[in-house]
Amino acid sequence: MIEVRNVEKYYGANGNVTKALDNISFTSADGEFLCIMGASGSGKTTLLNCISTLDSLSAGEILFDGVPRSTIKEAEMAAFRRRNLGFVFQNYNLLDSLTLGENISLSLLVNAVDPAAVPARVAQLAHEVGIEPLLDKFPSQVSGGERQRCAFARAIINTPKLIFADEPTGALDSGSAMKLMQIMGALNQTMHASIFMVTHDALCASYAERVLFLKDGKLFSEIVKGEKSKRDFYHEILDGVSLLGGQTVC
Ligand SMILES: Nc1ncnc2c1ncn2[C@@H]1O[C@H](COP(=O)(O)OP(=O)(O)OP(=O)(O)O)[C@@H](O)[C@H]1O
Ligand SMILES: [Mg+2]
Repeated sequence: MIEVRNVEKYYGANGNVTKALDNISFTSADGEFLCIMGASGSGKTTLLNCISTLDSLSAGEILFDGVPRSTIKEAEMAAFRRRNLGFVFQNYNLLDSLTLGENISLSLLVNAVDPAAVPARVAQLAHEVGIEPLLDKFPSQVSGGERQRCAFARAIINTPKLIFADEPTGALDSGSAMKLMQIMGALNQTMHASIFMVTHDALCASYAERVLFLKDGKLFSEIVKGEKSKRDFYHEILDGVSLLGGQTVC
């Protein structure tokens, strides 16, 4: 379980301060598929980075299974990230000097998985996301959508307990985006992986169990899928987006 308590995040100093997160509190149970929506600059990436321990907090606390983040030592945190977390960054963060296949397999090798088992696992996942023929190419030789699918395969190859995905479908056509959402939904169901996903796409968000809306760094509202159909949830998300008011949601 993750408890976010009164989290604040400021950037800058000396009269030039941006309050990126303003007193955010919520709880997420293990295995939840949570989506974060809001206008550009509303704090979505910052929130994801704070929860995923990539960024520090200015105030407040985040508890992992009751353990305050502030009490976890940096070395432990690094090991925790490596073993339990999967990241899909807004800008992919692939290593340009490695092929797509090497990018995907890197985290397996770092985590000392039997090297003999790696190629088959990489090939299978690459097949699922539709980039198997591209495994020997470098990131600069493939399209943005293909890089994004590679980044997704890399994030989930370790079967992480927690997946953080920042606009994982931003560069994808709607067919590929839905396929990715289906894989994400299946990971959530079968592996009970918790997912924190930022998206601007209401259809993608409708795969989640709950949507949090951020506005100006504050938690503006939230909606829960519950027993609703995906279609009804989708329409509720669209209403939520329009309630955020006259800004472009992204
Ligand atoms: N490293 C930084 N230094 C200073 N200000 C920052 C930094 N990162 C983010 N900000 C500011 O914090 C606020 C929230 O940024 P954040 O990146 O979390 O927004 P976002 O909701 O992810 O936007 P987008 O949809 O455009 O990705 C913005 O006003 C942004 O300019
Ligand atoms: Mg962002």
